[in-house]
Amino acid sequence: MMDRENNRAAQRASEAAVQRCIEPACGALYGIRERLYVCARCNGPLEIECRLGTSEDAAQLSKKWEVRLASPDARDRSGVWRYRELLPFEEGVPIVTLAEGNTPVYDAPLSAQYCGLPALRLKHQGCNPTGSFKDAGMTAAVTQAVLLGARTVACASTGNTAASLAAYAARAGLQCAVLVPTGQITAAKLAQSIDYGAVICEIEGNFDDCMRLIQEVSDDPSIYMANSINPFRIEGQKTVAFELMQQCQWRVPDHIVVPGGNMGNSSALGKGFGELRGLGLIQRLPKISIVQAEGAAPLARLFAGLDARRAVPLPDSLVPVENPQTLATAIKIGSPVSWKKALRAVLESSGQVLTVSEQEIADAKAMVGRDGIGCEPASATTVAGIRKLTATGHIRREESVVAILTGHMLKDPDYVNQYHRGTLPLGSTTHGPATAPRIAGAFRNVPKQVAATKSAILECLQRQE
Ligand code: F0G
Repeated sequence: MMDRENNRAAQRASEAAVQRCIEPACGALYGIRERLYVCARCNGPLEIECRLGTSEDAAQLSKKWEVRLASPDARDRSGVWRYRELLPFEEGVPIVTLAEGNTPVYDAPLSAQYCGLPALRLKHQGCNPTGSFKDAGMTAAVTQAVLLGARTVACASTGNTAASLAAYAARAGLQCAVLVPTGQITAAKLAQSIDYGAVICEIEGNFDDCMRLIQEVSDDPSIYMANSINPFRIEGQKTVAFELMQQCQWRVPDHIVVPGGNMGNSSALGKGFGELRGLGLIQRLPKISIVQAEGAAPLARLFAGLDARRAVPLPDSLVPVENPQTLATAIKIGSPVSWKKALRAVLESSGQVLTVSEQEIADAKAMVGRDGIGCEPASATTVAGIRKLTATGHIRREESVVAILTGHMLKDPDYVNQYHRGTLPLGSTTHGPATAPRIAGAFRNVPKQVAATKSAILECLQRQE
C-alpha cells in the first residue's frame, strides 16, 4: 500500500504539472486530472505547479508568443491559450474558447490627475466577451470540466462569474447552474445568465451563503464547480499577467492595483507574475495591492493588524465580515475563499490591502468614465485606492501604475444613472428608501430636457461650455 502511494507520489513529481496543497505543513501532491478543489488530506487550498523551463527557453517563449499575435489559429487568437506553454493542458486538447483576453491597456490622463499622478494605465478586463475578467479563468475551468467528462458545471456568484460560466458552458454544451443571492446582483448580469441558458438558482441569503452551498453541492460527483477555489480558474486568470507584460514590452510596472472580492484575481496575478520571474522573463515583481469596499473588507482588516515583515507563516484564519455591505455588488463578499493566496501575493510583492468608501468608489468611477473608458463600480475601487496610496506616499509620483478594471460599465447602468442624477443612496442597495441619504457625486452629468428646436439645442450647448 505504502509502496503504491510512494510510486504515485514519485510519478506526480515527474509530471509536467501537478496540483499541490499550499499549506507548508502539508504540501500534498495530486495528479493534474484528479478532480479536487481543496486538499484531500488537510482541506488546504490547492495550486497548480507547472514545471518551468530555463531562462534560455524563456527567451524563445516570448518570441513565440509575439509571433502568435498575428496567427489565425483559434488558440493564438485567445489571450489565454496563446500562453499555453505555461498552462496545465497537453498540446492539442480541445479548448472551450470565446477568443477571451486581448484586452486593451489605456492611458487615462484625467484619472491619473485625479489620483495625483502624471500617468496611469488601465487594463480593461471588462472588454472580454462577457464583459468581465472572469472569462480568462473560465476558458481554462470549462476546458478542464470537459476533459473530466463533467455534464454540469456550477458556481456561486455576485453576477459576473455566473454570466461567464453560463456562456462557456453553452459553448461546450454543458448544463450550467448558478447560485446567486436574490435581489443582490445587477439586472444586466442576471440577463446574461438567463440568455446563455443557465439554470439560475436565486438563493435567499448573500454571496457567502451561496459560496457555502456550492461547496456542498459540488460534493456530488455530477457537478463540477467553477468558482476560483478551483485552481484551474486561477491558471487561466494568471495569463493576464503574461498579456499585460507583453503589452508593456516586458517592462515591469511598479504597482498593479486590483479590487478584492473573493480574491481569485489577486491570487492569479500573484501567481502569473511569480512564474514570469521564475522563468527570468521579468527580474522583479510589481507591488500588488488589493482594494476593498469599506463595508466588505475582511482582508484589509486582517492586513491592518499584521506586521508585514513578520507575516510568515501566513495567518491561519480570517475573521469574516458577517453582513457585508457595498453598492459595488460584485465585491459584496464577507468571507473570501482565496484570501490566503491573495495575501501571499501582496506580502511577497510588498503591496498593500486597503479600503475605500462608497463616495470614493462612486467619484472614481465617474472619473474613469470621463476618460472615455468607464467601468463597473467594483473596478473603480482601484482608481479610488490609487488616489489614497498616492496621498499616503505608498505610490510615488515617478512610479508606474497599472489598475486592473474588472468589469464593463454596462454591467450596472442603474448605478450610473443614479449617481449622475443624484439619487444613488449611501446605503447598500441602489433601491433604498426615498429618504435614504444620497451620494453627492463630485462629477455629476445630469441629462437636460431641451425643447425640440435648433436654437434650444445650441443654447443648451453654450450654457455647458
Ligand atoms: N470586480 C468585479 C467586476 C467582479 O465581478 C469581482 C468578483 C471582483 C472585482 C472581485 O474579484 O473575487 O477575484 O477578488 N466577482 C465574483 C462573481 C465574486 O461572482 O462574479 P475577486
